[in-house]
Amino acid sequence: PAERSLVLIKPDAVRRGLVGEILSRFERKGLRVEAMETRTLDGDFADQHYAEHVDKPFYPPLKAFMTSGPLVALVLSGDQVIEVVRGMIGSTDGRKAAAGTIRGDLSLSNRENLVHASDSTDSAKREIGLWFPELG
Ligand code: CMP
Repeated sequence: PAERSLVLIKPDAVRRGLVGEILSRFERKGLRVEAMETRTLDGDFADQHYAEHVDKPFYPPLKAFMTSGPLVALVLSGDQVIEVVRGMIGSTDGRKAAAGTIRGDLSLSNRENLVHASDSTDSAKREIGLWFPELG
């Protein structure tokens, strides 16, 4: 079976009307949308998703941002999708991300950086289990 990644189109992207632009980049690449749902997070769910960051100084404003409005959660699949999507979104800080990447082209922020994507097979498994338990 093809590899899977959990991808979030974050609240800044929804507010800015960039959902179609971002989704279409993934579709044009040839990745498959296995699941897609709009959700508005509560604080507990944000804590679970970002379990590895809850004690970091940047977490309180990140939590406020991630719960500030609807986001679009996706499961994408395809050959080496985890690495492919991380290349497409670019490095965390939109001010430093390479041109041609989603963050590099569309974000000027280290926090409001439009997209989240699983960074390893272990995190993809954990995150898909949290967001879409029915996908197993
Ligand atoms: P994401 O890929 O979702 O993983 C953790 C998120 O925390 C990251 O994208 C950013 O939104 C945010 N983040 C990471 N580092 C910082 C930082 N130094 N300052 C503010 N936000 C950060």
